[in-house]
Amino acid sequence: MPIREFVKRVIDAEWVARVIEVLDRRSDNRMTELGMLGQAFEFAKINHVPGDYLEFGLWRGKTFSYAYRMMHRYRRGDMKLWGFDSFQGLPETGDHPDNIWYKGQFACTRPEFESILRDRGFRRAEYELVEGFYSESLNDATHRRFSGRKAAIVYVDCDLYDSTIQVLDFVQPYLVDGSIICFDDYYNYKGDPEQGEQKALAEFLQKQTRVRVIPYMDYAPLGKSFICRVNE
Ligand SMILES: C[S@@+](CC[C@H](N)C(=O)[O-])C[C@H]1O[C@@H](n2cnc3c(N)ncnc32)[C@H](O)[C@@H]1O
Repeated sequence: MPIREFVKRVIDAEWVARVIEVLDRRSDNRMTELGMLGQAFEFAKINHVPGDYLEFGLWRGKTFSYAYRMMHRYRRGDMKLWGFDSFQGLPETGDHPDNIWYKGQFACTRPEFESILRDRGFRRAEYELVEGFYSESLNDATHRRFSGRKAAIVYVDCDLYDSTIQVLDFVQPYLVDGSIICFDDYYNYKGDPEQGEQKALAEFLQKQTRVRVIPYMDYAPLGKSFICRVNE
């Protein structure tokens, strides 16, 4: 086997991820994105939370691959992984005080992305991709595609306030009691509640009454997760 292929297989191996997790816990006890997804999948398993995994903001598939690993570890054969991305990177990032982003950042084409998934062992039937900028792709046709399904775990990693607003409006009808939502950049902009994902969540909670959230875990340097409670 060529050395490159060998190294790739070792990096992607489940036992390597386990060793890293254990070392990570023993070193400085940091909760990484992988650790967060592990907790979310275990929470969903213990509580029998029905539904799929939805990720908004895929880039080169790091967290999507973590979710894939966890779906297999927790034997969620009933679950599908849904990935939503423009595959052209960030849209216009707008003019706001601490902007650190630019249009086109994190571009990874769909063929490139799917090739990464294949290399990591994803089977085609295990995932669905919704391509396009959310302002266009989170439309009635996508609602019809998702119709009858639920969202057990939602991973929001699309960085921008506007994108996060669109995502929360889209997922709202699919959230159930016990759905977990993770925001990868919740504490961005030095934790400013008036920017980014944090602002988008606060506004979402103000404008609708069906879903409220219970703070769950902080993770990585900027992430925070919540458990959903739903008024039917
Ligand atoms: C930080 S990257 C995601 C990182 C990824 N989760 C990982 O594990 O490395 C942000 C992603 O969000 C996507 N994105 C942000 N806003 C978007 C929008 N409005 N529509 C579609 N994709 C968007 C970008 O294309 C980009 O791939």
